[in-house]
Amino acid sequence: MTYFGIKLLVKAMDPTNSDKKSAEIKAREMLKKLGVKNVKELTAYELCMAANLVDPLSIDVQWNNIGGLSDIIQNIQETVILPFNRPDLFQNSSLLQAPKGVLLYGPPGCGKTMLAKATAKGAGARFINLQISSLVDKWYGESQKRAEAIFSLAMKLQPCIIFIDEIDSFLRSRTSTDHEATVMIKTQFMSFWDGLITNPSCQVMVMGATNRPQDVDAAILRRMPSMFHVGLPGKKQRENIIRLILSGENVDDDIEYNTLAEHTESFSGSDLREICRAAAVSVAHEFIRSSGFNSESEGMMRGINMKDLESATKKVRQTKSLSTSSPLNFHLD
Ligand SMILES: Nc1ncnc2c1ncn2[C@@H]1O[C@H](COP(=O)(O)OP(=O)(O)O)[C@@H](O)[C@H]1O
Ligand SMILES: [Mg+2]
Repeated sequence: MTYFGIKLLVKAMDPTNSDKKSAEIKAREMLKKLGVKNVKELTAYELCMAANLVDPLSIDVQWNNIGGLSDIIQNIQETVILPFNRPDLFQNSSLLQAPKGVLLYGPPGCGKTMLAKATAKGAGARFINLQISSLVDKWYGESQKRAEAIFSLAMKLQPCIIFIDEIDSFLRSRTSTDHEATVMIKTQFMSFWDGLITNPSCQVMVMGATNRPQDVDAAILRRMPSMFHVGLPGKKQRENIIRLILSGENVDDDIEYNTLAEHTESFSGSDLREICRAAAVSVAHEFIRSSGFNSESEGMMRGINMKDLESATKKVRQTKSLSTSSPLNFHLD
């Protein structure tokens, strides 16, 4: 058999080959969009991992879409964004090293993913949204090459943030047979990560988010010295969030934001969003019913009022109490 014949055969035998091809096409498009030159200098593995890159223009979350977290936002801007924008301030001091690991933790639905997205948009850094599944491969040695490629790609594209959402599930083994392989990938990932830590001038940072910090591997936690607790919003914060979510919507003048905030103790940002959504839906349903399902009906839909929001609050509270009483639901804090 000829050399090319063998190569073709090997390709045909590799079941991940077509996945790799489509990842490569996606990656090339993304790199072009991001204006990355020197694509030729990327290895095949780096190119493959480039499929995890995020285009900041496609991110729809900005700092001002996040309600009630101004202290954390300022803190993130100082610890995460400033080292990227002003490396000169951080490089010459061993005390002022930019963190190589940042963790956002707290109960679900309070804005961690939003913060990460806004950071990606605001950081002026490349952003890799690392899907851990993209590292896992049953072929021996493949995962290690991919983990290495993530870090070497980030170094080539720096400044760069490697974001891992739900980092608690990072390579958690589902069965005991996976166990050995996942432990190995984790160890390898961390050793490449340590390469960043010992290199003071590199502008690459790993950012993680989790609802379950107690489930994050201790070795990973140690590598994330900057931790931000994104907790449930307090009353004033809830008011901010409700105002923010309803801004730009058709609302009545009778809305008492302060009262709504009072009535939504222990609600998360996503619960508050759900209230606003349910209220908007009820107004739309009422409109459709009253117009007799006639698509050319006259008149305008009325604005969302206080009563809509109060009854939506009751509804959301009921679903919340159902889900929190379930033994499968874990709540932190
Ligand atoms: N602080 C907030 N301000 C505005 N909206 C919020 C806030 N927190 C949560 N939300 C809403 O809830 C949704 C889920 O938030 P997300 O950032 O995914 O939570 P987490 O990652 O902490 O579980 C968001 O898309 C947004 O609509
Ligand atoms: Mg999230």
